[in-house]
Amino acid sequence: ILDNAAAIKESLIEQKKQNIKFRSETDTEILPHLINRNWTGSLPESVLATLKQLDGGLTCCIVSMLDPDHLVVVRKGNPMVIGFGDGEYIAASDAAAIVHHTRRMVFLRDGELAVLSHEGVRFLDFDGNHIDHTPHKIPWTPVMAEKRGYRHFLLKEIVESPSAVRETIASCVPAKIESLSPDTFQFPCAIPKNISNVIFCGSGSSYSAAMLGQWICELVAGIPATRQVASEYQQMHRVVKENTLYVAISQSGETLDTLESVKYAQSRGAHILALTNNPFSSLARLTQDAFITSAGPEVSVAASKTFTAALAALLLLAFSMARTKKSLSYEHQKKLLKNIKELPDQMELMITYETRIRRLAGEFAHNRSFFFIGRGLQFPVAHFAALTMKEVANIHAEALLGGEMKHGAISLVEKDTPIMFFANQWTLKKNILNDMDELRARGARVIAAGFDVNEEMSAHCDEFIAIPTTPDSLAPLLAIVPAQLFIYYFALYNKKDIDRPRNIAKSVTV
Ligand code: G6P
Repeated sequence: ILDNAAAIKESLIEQKKQNIKFRSETDTEILPHLINRNWTGSLPESVLATLKQLDGGLTCCIVSMLDPDHLVVVRKGNPMVIGFGDGEYIAASDAAAIVHHTRRMVFLRDGELAVLSHEGVRFLDFDGNHIDHTPHKIPWTPVMAEKRGYRHFLLKEIVESPSAVRETIASCVPAKIESLSPDTFQFPCAIPKNISNVIFCGSGSSYSAAMLGQWICELVAGIPATRQVASEYQQMHRVVKENTLYVAISQSGETLDTLESVKYAQSRGAHILALTNNPFSSLARLTQDAFITSAGPEVSVAASKTFTAALAALLLLAFSMARTKKSLSYEHQKKLLKNIKELPDQMELMITYETRIRRLAGEFAHNRSFFFIGRGLQFPVAHFAALTMKEVANIHAEALLGGEMKHGAISLVEKDTPIMFFANQWTLKKNILNDMDELRARGARVIAAGFDVNEEMSAHCDEFIAIPTTPDSLAPLLAIVPAQLFIYYFALYNKKDIDRPRNIAKSVTV
């Protein structure tokens, strides 16, 4: 996307003597014409001269018949990685795409280019100065980015969620349960002790995670928190209070809106914590403190294991801040830590419900609209589920707050309206049962995922999915598993292009 595309196009057309014919309306086509106008006989030189005239996002690979020995790879805006293979170099926009060929990679920084030739690779800035880069060995193996017998990456990545959460927890808590003590807990990033408020920010599924971050931070650490949609944040010129911690969440670490919001918060003095699954991403590099989740490469476009790993990281952050602020007693900390450690096994148990959830998805697969409902800490799960349903199954899906239904949305409910209710919150049990009764009284078909110690809840819904017992703040990590499996199979029954949904991308860099 070139900001000055129109002006350049006009000036190129004015030079009639060059006989330039545009064959498309794209900004991209302007680039070769401009390189042609600046041609010096060498592709790298001509590209460097051209870059000075362009404003906007411009990450690309350029070849020319006039200089066939060079390939120039430019990074401006979107990400670009150069892989060092066996007798080959590979340019790609994402490490996961080339991990089968090599694990040694250089992640170009904004405003850099790589010149590939038979002699090797050179790195330059846009002024033509040489830059030294040593390839990193990325911690992902090729087998991590393979389907391994699964029909889709999405299913494989949902099944991998428990281990993504286990590994993420292990970055703060020693692996052995015997040594479990709050004193051995170590959060990998330095959070200033005087933080008095926290802003959680993200886009898409990472915004759902931000919502949960806010609630857990207040509940566990007792620190006032808010959440923001990244694309809205700096545009609304938000006031940033003193001693603010700004937590930017992005699985890819490349979402432009999130990066821009971080720059804004940074410029107004907030302490930034990045939470991403990509250690070499722009987000991780933009900040001093980055918590890297351990989900490994995620290939399917819709976030699954990266989302659950982000939730685990938010939990660990809240726990760490609770220790600093002394907002939980030592006994409470001990108990919570034990519950956190149990989460991955409990998630694994939820995965074993797959066959039943597949059958359920088949029964609901004809529906063209779906509601996901939750209250309190469960609403972010509903929010994430509705987004994933839209992305993967391409039907209308909406997240509703249980307590808000009566103010309008309930008028949409009629016979067989399909609803998934996230009902696992001890403190709101009475309200949740009322919500489900009201919905069913109007004919809705309700699937509920909830705690049910004495089988009370199953009497208030049509289908009940039992969630293992855990504190409210941890329950979203369990409820998310049946929701993800349900949506996967729903999309499968509807013959959707599950791993490559229409119109969306894994990294949204514009
Ligand atoms: C895109 C993806 C979504 C994702 C969002 C945020 O829109 O299609 O699935 O939720 O980006 O991605 P991020 O990498 O910032 O978490």
